[in-house]
Amino acid sequence: MSDNHAYLQMQGISKSFPGVQALKSVDFSVAKGEIHALVGENGAGKSTLMKVLTGALLRDEGEISLNNLPIEINNPGDAQQLGISMIHQELSLIPYLTVGQNIYLGREPRARVSTFIDWPELYSKAQSLLDQLNVNVDSRASVQDLSIAQRQMVEVAKALSFNADLIAMDEPTSSLTDRETEVLFQVMRSFKERGISIIFISHRLEEVFEIADRITVLRDGETIGTADVGDLDIDRVVRMMVGRQLGDLYPKDEFERGGIVLEAAGLQEGRELKPVDVTLRAGEILGIAGLAGAGRTALAETLFGVRPAEKGQIKIGGRAVPIQHPGQAIRLGMGFVPEDRKLQGLFLNMAVRENVVISALPEVSRFSFINFSEADKLARNFIEKLQIRTPSVKQLIRNLSGGNQQKVIIARWLTLKPKILILDEPTRGIDVATKAEIHALMNQLAKDGVAVMMVSSDLPEVLGVSDRILVMRAGKIVAEFSREEATQDNIMHAATGGRENNAQQRPQ
Ligand SMILES: Nc1ncnc2c1ncn2[C@@H]1O[C@H](COP(=O)(O)OP(=O)(O)OP(=O)(O)O)[C@@H](O)[C@H]1O
Ligand SMILES: [Mg+2]
Repeated sequence: MSDNHAYLQMQGISKSFPGVQALKSVDFSVAKGEIHALVGENGAGKSTLMKVLTGALLRDEGEISLNNLPIEINNPGDAQQLGISMIHQELSLIPYLTVGQNIYLGREPRARVSTFIDWPELYSKAQSLLDQLNVNVDSRASVQDLSIAQRQMVEVAKALSFNADLIAMDEPTSSLTDRETEVLFQVMRSFKERGISIIFISHRLEEVFEIADRITVLRDGETIGTADVGDLDIDRVVRMMVGRQLGDLYPKDEFERGGIVLEAAGLQEGRELKPVDVTLRAGEILGIAGLAGAGRTALAETLFGVRPAEKGQIKIGGRAVPIQHPGQAIRLGMGFVPEDRKLQGLFLNMAVRENVVISALPEVSRFSFINFSEADKLARNFIEKLQIRTPSVKQLIRNLSGGNQQKVIIARWLTLKPKILILDEPTRGIDVATKAEIHALMNQLAKDGVAVMMVSSDLPEVLGVSDRILVMRAGKIVAEFSREEATQDNIMHAATGGRENNAQQRPQ
């Protein structure tokens, strides 16, 4: 496949890691000023292909050319010289440095005839980049004080600062809200108008169809195909991704719910959680909807003792319990899959097996010796259940693809067999096929009597999975819908404070 109009052309790219051939003779090309989406299941090879392009990884085989001229990319510096920038799946900013320092890290402007950094120049250049993107971020602000969306924009500004002609964005929207995504899309469209090419990786296919000109699908390290968005639809792309027709995304069984297992009254924490009341029944999946900042994560974290309640009471099994830290919550039979899994839970230098079983250690160890064959069995069981793609249970978790790392965290909590399981954005960054697996697993847990609470920004997911839905706004629960009553519209109205919604509004 040779495409003479291509700006970037990658041909026959192969890359192996011990035990895994991540890329098998992949062909991929991008035109000038094009937004080209790269999609595929977790572990398909998307990030690897982009790392090869940007010099973070060396390919084993294959040719890369720009404007029909062969190029060598052996390190990130080479790529930058050629106008190729990348925004990594794991944001790479250093939290305790300022925005400007991060943008110009290692290439700070120097004052003339001096080795000193020209700080005013650095901050004004950084600010003008941010202003170009229309983002409200101060170049002197410390990165740790920024929201995820703002950090993402700083990454975009950084990519732009290299005068890039081609920017690869690896799941830039996975932690953005719809509104933030729209802002990023405007920026992407303006890049396009300037002739900048963009490679866009996302698991949200609706989004891909909204922004991309063409789509390339990877499966198991191979190119399955490239086509104009106009010639494709979501079903078709999913089939190309998974190699088969996908079953129901939101399977739902009917069964009896049990009694109330958790009851929280007047729960209050800081500014983010006004007094809220929540009850949770055995065998139900309670969805928590709302916009970013509405207090959903605060609610989850308060129930689990990550940030203990300042006021209010939690009862489990009818008995008032103090939950001051997660250890207590775990002893009471609770589990919690946090939103930010990278920061809050992975032991990157340990193997997949240890990461899965670490919480279940008492079960697989005796007299503080770990029984490795038991641990192996447990880990393998979950690797299969969640379709975690890894060459072995001994693989270091840092070598797994982003989505597969997330599945490991979910698996870890499941090994604990919690009676109450709280999941915060459980399928963010997870491919469509596995998403369906996780939903099926949540249903199975509920059927087994577990009380499941799920925070999600993905409305179709909330509607598809939940038995009951609470909507939060400004730290309060503002509406409650049964599965039958809930629609995308009435949830959005409640979440934004719109008035015409027919569900009963909770007293505030
Ligand atoms: N440094 C590494 N060492 C070993 N294996 C690796 C390494 N990096 C990636 N892999 C493996 O290569 C394969 C492709 O991974 P890659 O990160 O490219 O997937 P991806 O398509 O980006 O997935 P996701 O959607 O989950 O981000 C996976 O099987 C992964 O485990
Ligand atoms: Mg990836």
